[in-house]
Amino acid sequence: MARSAIVVALPASESDHVFAELALAGFEVVTVETPFELEAVLDSRRDVAVAILDGEIDADETEAFQRALRDGGRAVPALTVVSATTFERLSLADDDGSGNEYFTRPYSADSIRWRVEAMCIRRETVDDGSGPVLQAGPIGHEAWSRRATLIAVFNPKGGVGKTTVATNLASSLQARKGKSVLLLDADTVTGHVTTSFAIEAVRTVADSWRDEAEGGPSESLVELASAHGSGLRVVALSDSPINTEILDPERVVAAIAAARRSFDVIVVDLHPSYSTLNQAIFDEADRILVPVTPDVPAIRAAVQFLDVARALGCRERLAMVVNRANSGVSVADMERTVGLPAFALIHSAGVLFVRAANEGRTVVEMFPREKITADFDELADRLLGNPKPEGNVLAGFRFPTRLKEPAGA
Ligand SMILES: Nc1ncnc2c1ncn2[C@@H]1O[C@H](COP(=O)(O)OP(=O)(O)O)[C@@H](O)[C@H]1O
Ligand SMILES: [Mg+2]
Repeated sequence: MARSAIVVALPASESDHVFAELALAGFEVVTVETPFELEAVLDSRRDVAVAILDGEIDADETEAFQRALRDGGRAVPALTVVSATTFERLSLADDDGSGNEYFTRPYSADSIRWRVEAMCIRRETVDDGSGPVLQAGPIGHEAWSRRATLIAVFNPKGGVGKTTVATNLASSLQARKGKSVLLLDADTVTGHVTTSFAIEAVRTVADSWRDEAEGGPSESLVELASAHGSGLRVVALSDSPINTEILDPERVVAAIAAARRSFDVIVVDLHPSYSTLNQAIFDEADRILVPVTPDVPAIRAAVQFLDVARALGCRERLAMVVNRANSGVSVADMERTVGLPAFALIHSAGVLFVRAANEGRTVVEMFPREKITADFDELADRLLGNPKPEGNVLAGFRFPTRLKEPAGA
């Protein structure tokens, strides 16, 4: 599919670099010099997603550019490039709902490209205001004392770090935070938590239920779970993507609910799909962690999941975990695009993951003093509501009421 067009109205010295970078990213780039030219471009085509303007030109001309973007019922957002001093003076930090944004000089072509990417995604998914307005407020912790907190890890895109987050979070909670943890591999298609933990020849839930149907004993998740080195208990729904009909979603959720009496925390690693099984697990979960990597496909998938989660009534339980948080789209842009604050950041640690995987262990277990382990500890602390020195705790975490204000509000 062809990408949107981006109009660039910047001084020649900047325009060339920005043009080249955006063209490389696959955008059609149109440069204009005057409000009149901008108007002509917008009159002739409807696929302009963003206009990049210079915020240091005189006020009348700025107003003429802005008018062209709004004329004829159009609402093309502007990305206005200004100096840091102008930005301060304008005090533009608050989102006015117009979709207009500001970018400060000096900047790199790469950074403006990612901002444009973020604006394009946001523009496709503007909230029309018809959805329920969510209650903002602290999350209750009363569940901790009575039954395991159920944490599902999900993003509809593969390869974003669901399994990585689920296994290392479970490991941190068990080995470093003193919780008793069950890790459930509910990814019956691509899941291989048990094999990656070098736990071999395990009986899965599907095995057990098939045996039970033929007269075998009824076994709980607790009985089926194997112990992993760190004390963590691990159980998989199935070791094969076929013949999983026995895994009736309601029965699976009932088994999870029963296991809540035996653990402090249950972490569930999910398959990237909206299966009825996953929907049933979302319904039961106290918290749904959404790992997102700083790239367009992963962010797009998260934005889509937010819409789906709203329809399913679980949106207020979502928390974004920014994975590989040091490349591509900035964390601030991810937060604004996805519409969720970053609940935790996990940095890239490629070689450590490979080394841990070779040993069938988690990074948390194998490299306790590395920064990456501190990242997972921090995520665990946040879920447990343990205060950090800066007071950055779950209780202070506010979920946004909406993605964006409805136009004209
Ligand atoms: N923070 C990270 N740093 C380095 N490699 C990572 C990181 N997160 C995930 N990976 C790697 O990316 C790949 C995909 O991660 P995985 O957790 O399997 O994703 P998913 O479960 O969402 O499909 C794995 O090889 C994993 O080791
Ligand atoms: Mg996975």
